[in-house]
This record gives sequence, C-alpha cells and structure tokens, in this order.
Amino acid sequence: MPAVVIVGAQWGDEGKGKATDLLGSRVDYVVKFNGGNNAGHTVVIGDQKYALHLLPSGILSPGCTPVIGNGVVVDLGVLFEEIDGLEARGIDTSKLVVSANAHVIADYNRTLDKVTERFLGSRKIGTTGRGIGPTYADKMNRLGVRVQDLFDEKILRAKVEGALELKNQILTKVYNRRSVEVDEVVDELLGYVDRLRPMVADTSLLLGDALDADQTVLLEAGQATLLDVDHGTYPFVTSSSATAGGACTGSGIPPMRLTRVIGIVKAYATRVGEGPFPTELFDADGERLRDNGGEFGTTTGRPRRCGWYDAPIARYAARINGLTDFVLTKLDVLTGFERIPVCVAYEVDGERVDEMPMTQTGFHHATPIYEYFDGWSEDISGARAIEDLPVNAQRYVTAIEEMSGARISAIGVGPGRDETIVVHDLL
Ligand code: GDP
Ligand code: IMO
Ligand code: MG
Repeated sequence: MPAVVIVGAQWGDEGKGKATDLLGSRVDYVVKFNGGNNAGHTVVIGDQKYALHLLPSGILSPGCTPVIGNGVVVDLGVLFEEIDGLEARGIDTSKLVVSANAHVIADYNRTLDKVTERFLGSRKIGTTGRGIGPTYADKMNRLGVRVQDLFDEKILRAKVEGALELKNQILTKVYNRRSVEVDEVVDELLGYVDRLRPMVADTSLLLGDALDADQTVLLEAGQATLLDVDHGTYPFVTSSSATAGGACTGSGIPPMRLTRVIGIVKAYATRVGEGPFPTELFDADGERLRDNGGEFGTTTGRPRRCGWYDAPIARYAARINGLTDFVLTKLDVLTGFERIPVCVAYEVDGERVDEMPMTQTGFHHATPIYEYFDGWSEDISGARAIEDLPVNAQRYVTAIEEMSGARISAIGVGPGRDETIVVHDLL
C-alpha cells in the first residue's frame, strides 16, 4: 500500500508536475494536498504542453483518479475553466474527486489579496494575487467557506454573512474599497453547485480504503519547502503546509502510512516573489540560467529570480520532509557553463554556518561559500543512464548528492516525459 509524497525542495517550480506525470501511469490516485491555483505545473507529453494550476497533474494520466484534498483552497471558477480547457483538448476529467472539506476561495479574498499587497508597498510578499493567503487566514480564523457549505444554502448564507461583517469593515475603512453584498457572493457560489455536486466526496475515506485495498496513492505538493508557512522563509512564504507533514493533514492519510517522500530539486535554484535568496545572481549567468531554463512563471508570467544550487537548503529540505529520494531536474540547463558554483555553506556576520541559519535575520545576512565544479558542453538531453552523461556532469551530480542528504534517484535532462535518467525506481 504505497503512499508516496512529492514535495518541492527549494522555492517552487522544481518540476513537480513532470515528476508526478512520470509516475501517473503507475499509480491509482494523485492527490493535491495544499495550495490552490497559485501553483503552476507544466507537463510536456509528446508535442503537447499542459499548464495545470488547480488540478493535480495526475489528471493527465487516464488510469489514475485525481483528487483535490481537504488541504487545498479551491477557486471554483478556475476549477471549471481548467476542466473545460482540458476537455477541449481531449483529456477526460470525469474521474476528478473534490474533498467536501476543502475551502473555497471567495471573490472578496481575491480582492483582499491584491489590495493588501498594494497596501504593503515595499514590504509586499509578491503573492500570485489568487486569494490564497486570505482564504487560509479565514480557515484558521474559522470564518471559511467549505465545499460542503455550498450544498446547504442557509449555512452558506450564514457563513458568507459572518465573513463579510468583518471583511466589509476592512475593505471600506482600511482599503477604501466598495463593500461586498452577501447576495453577490452566495449567488456566484450557488451557480457552481450542480456541476460540483457529483465530484464531491469524503476523500480521506476514499484514500484510506484505497490504501487498504493495496492501491497506490501519490500525494503531489504545490509550492515547496522554503515556501511552507512553518518551515519556509517566513513571512515570504505561501500560506499552506507544502512539506511532507502537510501531505497528511491535507489529505487525511495518517503519517505511518507514508512509504516514500520524494523531493524535487533543480540543478540550480529559482524563486518568484520577494524574500531572501542567498545564491541569487544579478549578472549574465543569472540571465543565462533564466533563458536556458525558460524561467518565467507558469501562473503569473513573472521572470523567476535565478541562482546557483544551494546545498544547505537541499539538506534542510531532506531533514524537514524526511526525504527518501531526490529527483534532480533541469541538469541540461547547466550545459555550456564553463564553471559551476555550488553553495556548500554560508558566511553569516563573519562566521561560517553549515546549515540553514536559525533566524530569518541570519538568512538575510547569509552570503554563499562556493565550491566550483568544471562544466560540460555536450548536449545531454539524449542521456538515459548516468554513464551517458559527460564525466563532469557525473561529477556534479555525485557531488551535490553527497552534500544534499538523500540519494538522487532520477535526473531530468529535458522537459519531455522520457527525457529522464532513472537511477532507482521511484515507486
Ligand atoms: P512545478 O511547479 O514544480 O511543477 O514546476 P514548473 O512546471 O513550474 O517549472 C518547471 C519547468 O521546467 C516546466 O516548464 C517543465 O516543463 C520544465 N522541466 C521539468 N523538468 C525539466 C528538465 O529536466 N529539463 C528541462 N529543460 N526542463 C524541465
Ligand atoms: P508551484 O507549485 C513558485 C510564491 C509567490 C509568492 C509567495 C506567496 O508552481 O511550485 P501566494 O499567492 O501563494 O500567497 O504567494 O509564494 N509562490 C510560488 N512560487 N512556485 C509556486 O508554485 C508558487 N506558489 C506561490 O510567488 O512569493
Ligand atoms: Mg510551478
């Protein structure tokens, strides 16, 4: 009864979508357990490219049942838009199951996300503006609207009224915006009920039964370890639990049933939005990584900040998530660099620090201590075994494996499904 978790080991966009898709044909369920349509997972199958935001990447694998877990925040407009978009391209989405306990992103939370960012000015987080933070805040404040509330109009109205009592004060008095009518919110949400109802289930029961029946469940994270609300570079994080612990709370699968935790890590590093990033490059090398790697956001189109591989961060991700394996992605993007630096430790206020600094101030002050590796110039996209890689690429992989706290079980050498070197089977 394998329950395998896939998490991001850096700041997101490591290639979780491709890794999930790679395993999709061999698993029975793919569960999205956190986040919402702030995610952007690009999956390339043959000559087709799919950008998924809210739907689990397993939606592209015909045999597998995609599940939106209780830990997700759901924008229902986006849900149906994404479903329609895939159906128009011939993808069958009829198996999709949505947790009755997942929270719904109401329009006022999209507005609040955007105006709060504007209000913060230079202290902004650089959110995706999708209403993620305010919706999770409502959940913790016990002001949230859940999927199941849509099936009881009286309850739905009472919850929206309760939430708007406070929100309208904030919208009008703090942000100088118009107040929101209860009816507009309720009517919009009720408009989705007929389409939504057949998809909704007790997903923790469904997944528990599946594991009892020896079926395979893959839990796919959005975002990443350094964006996790507890373990990331707070406050420059998302508002959900993007780490392995979140896979349990966000799906209702208990910790002892997890059999494997796979961290997806890029052969360099990127970040979107604000916040500390010690190995960030502001020079031609950074531009080159961005161009070679196509590092522009799938969700917002923003150029991603780029930098060198940071081993203390990978080790931190290995520890926080209990990683059993890494999938190293985008090794091909480093082709052509003569010399490749890897951050092995930091200097913080004149002292060497080997692990992630304890405080956020320390991390802001951290400057990387680099070790340098010789690059390679051969095209590696056709490599399907470690031995097919140039010796310098092999050395790079071995060196970062030794520094990063878990074995590297697969290596990405291109965006395509088959452009992967499998070292150890991931299931
Ligand atoms: P996710 O959010 O973690 O799923 O990652 P994104 O989809 O946002 O970003 C990863 C991008 O890199 C996507 O465009 C993938 O198609 C692409 N990609 C994934 N693995 C590889 C790889 O090994 N090499 C290259 N060149 N591209 C890759
Ligand atoms: P995937 O799943 C990269 C970042 C935003 C911002 C911060 C908070 O594709 O890896 P939010 O809208 O979540 O409140 O924004 O988190 N962020 C991501 N960065 N990849 C993602 O998802 C992200 N989802 C959120 O840029 O800095
Ligand atoms: Mg992404």
